[in-house]
Amino acid sequence: MIKLSLRLKEISEYIDEKDVVLDIGCDHALLDIFLSQKYKKRYYASDLRESALEMAKKNIQKYSAENVILKCGNGLSVLDECEKVDTLVISGMGYYTITKILSNIKNKKSIKKLVIQSNSNTYEIRKFLLKNDFFIDKEKVVFEKNIYYIISCFKRGKKKYTKKDITVGIFTNDVNKYIEKEIKKNNILLNIIPKKHFIKRYKIKNKNKYLKKFYK
Ligand SMILES: C[S@@+](CC[C@H](N)C(=O)[O-])C[C@H]1O[C@@H](n2cnc3c(N)ncnc32)[C@H](O)[C@@H]1O
Repeated sequence: MIKLSLRLKEISEYIDEKDVVLDIGCDHALLDIFLSQKYKKRYYASDLRESALEMAKKNIQKYSAENVILKCGNGLSVLDECEKVDTLVISGMGYYTITKILSNIKNKKSIKKLVIQSNSNTYEIRKFLLKNDFFIDKEKVVFEKNIYYIISCFKRGKKKYTKKDITVGIFTNDVNKYIEKEIKKNNILLNIIPKKHFIKRYKIKNKNKYLKKFYK
């Protein structure tokens, strides 16, 4: 089996055997190669950069992972070229790119499950997806190379959440350690961002206020 980073391995744990997956922004396609080895079935992997797909192609050849089907295109534009996809993986991107890719997700009814790992602003991702009729099914935080990554699994439907669930997350492992790190990160930002950007600064201060509230 191909060896994955801890972050990608934990993302793979949220994929069930029955899921028909499109990995948007696959880059190296290592996750999809791993899944195709694990479950011996087809995985779609897309990227908008030809250069990324060239690397993915080399990896597919190296690991004889012919079940990984590559597609070139922007976000959901490749969905119609992929048969019966019901699960999307989007990982290793910032919240702005992710929400842009998912801007029309409400109308893509064939998609029942999303596995998301955003490099920033997981709070905004939760808010966006709850507004678009998904609920948070499960979440965990993974610590690798001195960074905390939140991995979330969303499914279609509605559920009620507390302010803490949306601001921090529903994960139960390493909550305090994650909060400490986030507060530190935000304080560094507050030291860098000039005073004239008061709205940006206000949002960060507000975020820290909530994070402190949920620190036990
Ligand atoms: C940092 S890599 C993450 C790779 C992999 N998903 C991971 O988690 O390790 C982000 C990839 O997303 C791709 N990407 C960014 N925006 C995209 C979009 N709108 N549609 C498809 N791919 C996109 C980039 O080209 C890049 O290869």
